[in-house]
Amino acid sequence: MKKVFITGGEGFIGYHLTKRFLAEGYEVITYDIQTHSIPFDKSNWPQYIIYRTESIKDERLTRVRGDVCDRGRLKTTLERHKPDVIVHLAALSIAGVSNDYPEEAHRNVLNSTITLMDVLKELDYGYDRIVHTSSSMAYGNFLRDDEGNIIPAREDQMCDPIDIYGSMKLAGEYIVKSFNHRFKIPYVIIRPSAVYGPTDCNRRVTEIFLRNAMDGKPLKLDNGGLHQLDFTYVEDLAEGFFLAATKKEALGNTFNLTRGEGRTIKDLAEVLKGLMPETEIITREIEVYRPNRGQLDISKAKRILGFDPKHSLEEGMKSYYEFAKAFEEGKR
Ligand SMILES: NC(=O)c1ccc[n+]([C@@H]2O[C@H](COP(=O)([O-])OP(=O)(O)OC[C@H]3O[C@@H](n4cnc5c(N)ncnc54)[C@H](O)[C@@H]3O)[C@@H](O)[C@H]2O)c1
Repeated sequence: MKKVFITGGEGFIGYHLTKRFLAEGYEVITYDIQTHSIPFDKSNWPQYIIYRTESIKDERLTRVRGDVCDRGRLKTTLERHKPDVIVHLAALSIAGVSNDYPEEAHRNVLNSTITLMDVLKELDYGYDRIVHTSSSMAYGNFLRDDEGNIIPAREDQMCDPIDIYGSMKLAGEYIVKSFNHRFKIPYVIIRPSAVYGPTDCNRRVTEIFLRNAMDGKPLKLDNGGLHQLDFTYVEDLAEGFFLAATKKEALGNTFNLTRGEGRTIKDLAEVLKGLMPETEIITREIEVYRPNRGQLDISKAKRILGFDPKHSLEEGMKSYYEFAKAFEEGKR
């Protein structure tokens, strides 16, 4: 039986990835510090974390509590399990929090990557690859054409991050590539963006808006909500990760894995209003430091991986809403 080792595997994406690999017949080892970014987690739904840890009952799943920066424990765990594939998700995953706590971000986003790669270098069995998780924040402000329209970001364009999180993510990519160059560690790099869906409790815009709409609170659009994101349903991303972890052709590549469509925050609010018609949408003027983003070009992932994201924002938010409603009504 093949084995996958997922750092940060108890987090939002890790939960869906664990389910995906189990469904494909893999044995899964999650390696996670299991503090879930406390004290940063301001989640209204901490029970999602319990749901995530309790809802997968499978004897092929081993949960290890461990810090990726704890070199000894990481190495021992890897040597014991000898996974075929290592997926590195562990990070201080919320850009705003990383920007406020740069040393914490440095440790969990960048140092964790350095420690992991340095340990992989020393493993004496033939694992297949590491799949490293970067972010669309590595691009910085997306490029625009002469009419001011956002040009879909391509993997081969220059990255120019403007925040601490994006800078650490880009540095992590260079670390992975450097270890490949020097020590031949096989890798794939993934750049996701604006991931959303069931069990998210990381207080990103999709979760905040869904929760506010369900609680009858207004959805606040910053400066009219015209900022675009490439909202990506988490199960589509998990499928992309699986392809990146298993396809031979993926090796040595960086892939955007998103829906491949730029939608505004206003669109998101309107989708939610369609599901909950009483939702009030208001706008506020506010200074925004986030980079201007939008659609990512996913043609490379389509061509090489056969990546085919299924969920539009409308479909994905409907599923997410139905999950949250059922969860709240105690049906799950
Ligand atoms: N969710 C998104 O929209 C998105 C977008 C782009 C990139 N990403 C990246 O995807 C990855 C997963 O994101 P997520 O949304 O699942 O985040 P998450 O915060 O839900 O999961 C991250 C997990 O990593 C663990 N962790 C943190 N530091 C650790 C350490 N030093 N050792 C061991 N475990 C540690 C946490 O306990 C948590 O369970 C992250 O690298 C994130 O930066 C996420």
